Amino acid sequence: MQEGENPLESLYAILKLAAEPWRSGNPEIDAFIDLKLEHSARVAEIGGQIAAGEHFPADIMDAANCACMFHDISRFMQYRHHRSFDDRLSFDHGDMSAEILKDAGILDFLAPDDRRDVITAVRLHNKRTLPSELTKHARLLAKLTRDADKLDIMAIFTAQAVENGSADTIGFSLGSERLMSPNILESLAARRCPSYGDIVNACDFWLVRIGWVYDLSFDTSVSIFRERKYLDFLEQELDGIPGADKPLRDAKNYIVSHVGANV
Ligand SMILES: [Fe+2]
Repeated sequence: MQEGENPLESLYAILKLAAEPWRSGNPEIDAFIDLKLEHSARVAEIGGQIAAGEHFPADIMDAANCACMFHDISRFMQYRHHRSFDDRLSFDHGDMSAEILKDAGILDFLAPDDRRDVITAVRLHNKRTLPSELTKHARLLAKLTRDADKLDIMAIFTAQAVENGSADTIGFSLGSERLMSPNILESLAARRCPSYGDIVNACDFWLVRIGWVYDLSFDTSVSIFRERKYLDFLEQELDGIPGADKPLRDAKNYIVSHVGANV
């Protein structure tokens, strides 16, 4: 980064350039490219907030900003080729984003160790769990990217709900039954984030988002989750489902025990 530049603005300009070849000229398709650009910029901003709250060392911040800004860099290609962000129909977008970053030269301004850690964090940002053998910095960057990503995805869902009355689960091929699957409830009862593979019904989709609370790595992230009232939103989406009050109550208790009740 050049001195005096706003690092996030510079990285965003680089991301925009990387998205350009994947535009089709069809506004309907290109709107999805813009959605991912905006998401990436917000994830980088949230990542900065979390890093500040957690007192990340200054010398890791270039790498942290890169991991957050570029975590979804393969999404542009994914949408252009597959008209979908569903990895099951196309490719693992964490792996593909890491491959793009390896080859693109975008991270050349970072020290080699930082570059390697950013690529690892990007590869792992969408995996269920982190492997045990990671460098200290790669682990920190991966946790940061995962937390910031989840927080912004929750923002997208809540914005959709405000606009349309409920959030959009179209494209996730979910059953419409207002039921909760036993495996999902079992994971939540153990304060674990359920497996996406266990999602069957629309309710499961929202129950997994409750599980995200347990997957957040930093108290600052839990605090942002609380401040943005995401649990209230999930409560609305699960309104009237018998038995949904228990996982919601457990998650609330977890939040209070980590960061207190006050907003
Ligand atoms: Fe992603």
